[in-house]
Amino acid sequence: MMHRTCAAVVLLLPFLLSACAPSESAEEAAVPAEATVVAEAVVDGGAVYRTRCISCHGANGEGIPGEYPPLQANSDIAGDTGRMIRVLLHGLQGELTVNEATYNSVMPPWGAYLDDDQVAAVLTFLRSHFGNEATPVTAAEVARVRAQTIDRQTPWTIAELDSAGRATD
Ligand code: HEC
Repeated sequence: MMHRTCAAVVLLLPFLLSACAPSESAEEAAVPAEATVVAEAVVDGGAVYRTRCISCHGANGEGIPGEYPPLQANSDIAGDTGRMIRVLLHGLQGELTVNEATYNSVMPPWGAYLDDDQVAAVLTFLRSHFGNEATPVTAAEVARVRAQTIDRQTPWTIAELDSAGRATD
């Protein structure tokens, strides 16, 4: 009888000890929580495009002739990132030529609706889809341009963008 009790205590000892080590189990619990936060921070640029841009620029970035410029095979999209970030944050107005066709309308500003991650994600999406091929845009660069242009109240014109300089300067 005595022997059996002793044997049971010996067998239970590791479990009793591990139950008395709360710091270890707390650490284990913290790992999945952090992983969830990281996963939520990844923005799907395609989803932003489909929600915010598709109504004017089309499902494949084809635009509407004479009204909304194509973002498809558009060298501006693959060009200077600072210029594209400015267009997204504050909009664009006046005459614009894309692939030899002229547009003269207003692109609404998105700076109040899209955060730095979302602007970076949608531009990165455009720069890697619809026949465009260029490097990703980072949220840090969007934050820098946002800070530089914080006083901007009206959409840019092409003439202003041509003299705005690169975001990386
Ligand atoms: C209400 C319609 C509308 C919506 C929605 C819209 N745009 Fe535009 N966008 C325009 C118009 C119009 C222009 C051209 C403005 C001009 O004629 O000066 C333009 C121009 C642009 C340009 C400049 C193209 C170039 O060749 O310089 C980019 C980049 C752009 N849009 C991206 C986007 C993105 C990304 C979204 C979604 C976040 C979006 N647009 C949503 C109407 C729209």
